[in-house]
Amino acid sequence: MACIVDISEMETIVFANHKGGTGKTTSCLNVAYALRERGHSVLLVDCDRQTNLTQSFAAKVPAGQHLGTVLLGQASLSDVVLEVGERLYLVPSSTDLGEAEERISQKPGAEFALKELLDEVEAVDYCLIDTPGGLGKLTYAALTAATAVFIPAQPEYYGIEGLVGLLDVCHQVQKRLNKALKIGGVFFTQYNRSDRRRAQRDMVQLLESHITFGSLVMQTTIRPNVSLVEAQIEKEDLYTWAPQSAGAKDYQNLTSEILARL
Ligand SMILES: Nc1ncnc2c1ncn2[C@@H]1O[C@H](COP(=O)(O)OP(=O)(O)O)[C@@H](O)[C@H]1O
Ligand SMILES: [Mg+2]
Repeated sequence: MACIVDISEMETIVFANHKGGTGKTTSCLNVAYALRERGHSVLLVDCDRQTNLTQSFAAKVPAGQHLGTVLLGQASLSDVVLEVGERLYLVPSSTDLGEAEERISQKPGAEFALKELLDEVEAVDYCLIDTPGGLGKLTYAALTAATAVFIPAQPEYYGIEGLVGLLDVCHQVQKRLNKALKIGGVFFTQYNRSDRRRAQRDMVQLLESHITFGSLVMQTTIRPNVSLVEAQIEKEDLYTWAPQSAGAKDYQNLTSEILARL
């Protein structure tokens, strides 16, 4: 990528939650589309060996040209970056990513591996990082490379302890690895504020009044919406596929709230 802007201007946002299925990939993808709608350029980084984000695009990943090979020093970032649309770029993942993660974990300072790579990136406004479930080395590396972390969560009553634990991890990263990390907020996915189901509503209220979480709970919630699933399967931009859908509106609102919280 050509050098145009000062790299310090790039915001690097990571979507993280150690639980699977909370909407990390869906959020990463659609916040990227919403940012692009606003004229920004976006680099997506898929840190999950399940490759869901990578598979959300039609682009073919050439053999051995993915984040894992870059982390191992066998390719450069510019070798593997795919242009997946106008102003939209992807560092793809691969099922081989786990092996790369294991190998870099054995080296000192593995948490800084991704930051070092992204420090080289120029000429994009936002970098969005999708992380896997669990709290492996690559998630720590993503938090170390980020300027902000946002946490998609489902309002399950018994999820609160997990969220407190995750927040603690973010604070440790802030203290030891990345002082610049901002804990941007927690937003609920597949949830409607007018939902009358008691357990979900109670969970949201509990978190909103929680001493540690209160100010972190975001106003925007992402409603259950089939267009989000369809657009991803069809490898289409949500704002082309279903611009009037609830999903498109919710992700526009989420993007505005994210930008306001940076
Ligand atoms: N708001 C939503 N409405 C309907 N389905 C959703 C929504 N958000 C996510 N999904 C679906 O739920 C599943 C898990 O979401 P995903 O973003 O892949 O979670 P994660 O990346 O955290 O594992 C996917 O099949 C996705 O299409
Ligand atoms: Mg995912």
